[in-house]
Amino acid sequence: MHQSPLSRTPQNVEIVPRNRQFNIEEVLETNWHGGDAFKTAFFDAMSILFPLGEQFFIDSVKEFRDRIEDPELQRRVRGFVAQESIHRREHQSYNEALCRARGIPLEKMEERVEKKQAFARRYLRPIQRLSGTVALEHLTAILADATFRNPEGLEGAHPEMQALWHWHALEETEHKSVAFDVFVAVGGTYWRRRISMLLVTLDFTQHVIRNMRLLLRDYKGSRFKLWWGGMKFLFGEKGALRGLKEPYLDFYKKDFHPWDHDNRELVSSVMSEFGGGAVNPI
Ligand SMILES: [Fe+2]
Ligand SMILES: [Fe+2]
Repeated sequence: MHQSPLSRTPQNVEIVPRNRQFNIEEVLETNWHGGDAFKTAFFDAMSILFPLGEQFFIDSVKEFRDRIEDPELQRRVRGFVAQESIHRREHQSYNEALCRARGIPLEKMEERVEKKQAFARRYLRPIQRLSGTVALEHLTAILADATFRNPEGLEGAHPEMQALWHWHALEETEHKSVAFDVFVAVGGTYWRRRISMLLVTLDFTQHVIRNMRLLLRDYKGSRFKLWWGGMKFLFGEKGALRGLKEPYLDFYKKDFHPWDHDNRELVSSVMSEFGGGAVNPI
């Protein structure tokens, strides 16, 4: 028999909401990632997705709050909601400052996600929305893991931006199993989450590329060189996203659990930057 999912979440991982604010308004007027337009646009494009995305995650999980019997899982849900709410706030100011600096209306950047979400809220069932959230939380968790595992990804970035991305990655790791544990507790099946993963992977990639193209629309140099160099930055030998295939595919396994990827040791190394926490390897 399999263990219940919550019992597979390590007991010594606390979900600690850190109410951080980042002073990045002026930094966002520049190519803050070592002067590199592609690298800057890659991270900025993801930031654009967060405020709407994270609100959707919070709402999807909250819809099942009354059906969670385990008080420990209830407590973890509160931690998850608190962390995602602060992430939303910080990425909202990030995105507003970014769009002001680039002369692109934020509404224009968000319009496609907004339409998809309106569709999902209207036509999908709560369990389907939760399933999509579980899949997206896994994508976030493996990207967060790559942030620590492949430090080249943020090498040369402005220190305040590095701090912001580390802070977010750390908290994504702490709460990576919350939506998953809720999904299993309310009877979500692995077939459902597999299908969701296929759909959201395509969707997420498409949105990031679209946002990057908008952000890079005034780029003066050769586009071919820009994207070729960018692919090397992401997927090359020292690429920021190297090593993601396996943890990504693991999600499709029947008995997968997010803490099968036990990266407590890795993230504990950045904890001191953020006033501690409780990801201590036992
Ligand atoms: Fe987040
Ligand atoms: Fe999250």
